[in-house]
Amino acid sequence: YEIYLNGMTGAVPRLPTDLTRLEQLTEQRLGPGPVGYVAGSAGDGSTARANRAALQRRRIVPRMLRDVHERDLSVEVLGRSLPAPMALAPVGVLSIMHPDAEIAAARAAAAQGVPFTLSSASSTPMEQVAEAMGDAERWFQLYWAKDPEVARSFLGRAKASGFSVLVVTLDTPMLAWRPRDLDQAYLPFLHGVGTANYFTDPAFRAGLAKPVHEDPNAAVMHFVGMFSDPAKTWPDLAFLREHWDGPIVLKGILHPDDARAAADAGMDGVVVSNHGGRQVAGSIGAADALPRVVEAVGDRLTVLFDSGIRTGDDIFKALALGAKAALVGRPYAYGLGLDGQAGVEHVIRCLLAELDLTLALSGHAGPTTVGPTDLIEESA
Ligand code: FNR
Repeated sequence: YEIYLNGMTGAVPRLPTDLTRLEQLTEQRLGPGPVGYVAGSAGDGSTARANRAALQRRRIVPRMLRDVHERDLSVEVLGRSLPAPMALAPVGVLSIMHPDAEIAAARAAAAQGVPFTLSSASSTPMEQVAEAMGDAERWFQLYWAKDPEVARSFLGRAKASGFSVLVVTLDTPMLAWRPRDLDQAYLPFLHGVGTANYFTDPAFRAGLAKPVHEDPNAAVMHFVGMFSDPAKTWPDLAFLREHWDGPIVLKGILHPDDARAAADAGMDGVVVSNHGGRQVAGSIGAADALPRVVEAVGDRLTVLFDSGIRTGDDIFKALALGAKAALVGRPYAYGLGLDGQAGVEHVIRCLLAELDLTLALSGHAGPTTVGPTDLIEESA
């Protein structure tokens, strides 16, 4: 109602409340370069389209007369109480969108009470982001460096900076074929953007022949060679368990057997995700993978979801398919690009308001009662 009441004095929102319009608006205001990096996906974009199709093919079947006058969006996730079943996904190099980058996004998440997941590839060192967030809930996303000293150092710094949940991204042992970046011959990392956590890391710096400021190009190449490790296999997860005592969540799980392997390895959760369609072109839409993963490990692991969430009803659908919460990527990156911290807050508030209304109008007083019978699937 706040928006309608403000409207009585002629004030309309600064950004559209239909978040699917943000990409085009950001492109108009910021130009094709930055938006190419954020909007771009692998190959011909078929996986990104499959993500949207898998959500849109599922339709909500609203229920009536179920007393929804008092509602509560809160959920228990990974042993913590969250005000809503939503978190901000790790998005690297946010300085491409706005000079305040991760600080603005993290402050927005903190102000709205949703967890912020900081990317390993952030443009701001993790300690500064932590300081900007006060006591607010923050998660750390690990790109698992080839050098175990660097990985260990990242985990130690993240712990010391109050990051509670470790999100380990498995679907990026290397960057995929991304035509929009290839056509612009643009990789932010090669400009030293998104390397802040590495360039400030003592273990990373110890591996350089010369200090970063004396030979930045060599430092960037050192980063490119070590940011991830395609040789890793499941037994390596023991290293993470050894060096992180909080919850560990594996991001990028699509196959139920991988979810079972995560449970067997003593992990706490998985994020069913295909990296927003940015890694494997031609892959399954993430929402199509979700029910099978939930069936395989729903009783052993916390199952989270991302890839393709654009609206509150998309979050409803992810919950109905068995996710405990959804992560959102591109929409908040566009919000940041368009209006800094206020833009990210706008995106979070729109999603949560729309989720709240979708729940209520479908006969639910909160997220926990939503289930598979709330959806039907149209044939593809
Ligand atoms: C990402 N994503 C990502 N994931 C990750 O684990 N570490 C990272 O550094 C990044 N960086 C990144 C940059 C950009 C520009 C995008 C769009 C995405 C993936 C992200 O966490 C998430 O999986 C997807 O964004 C979810 O899909 P939607 O919400 O963008 O459709």
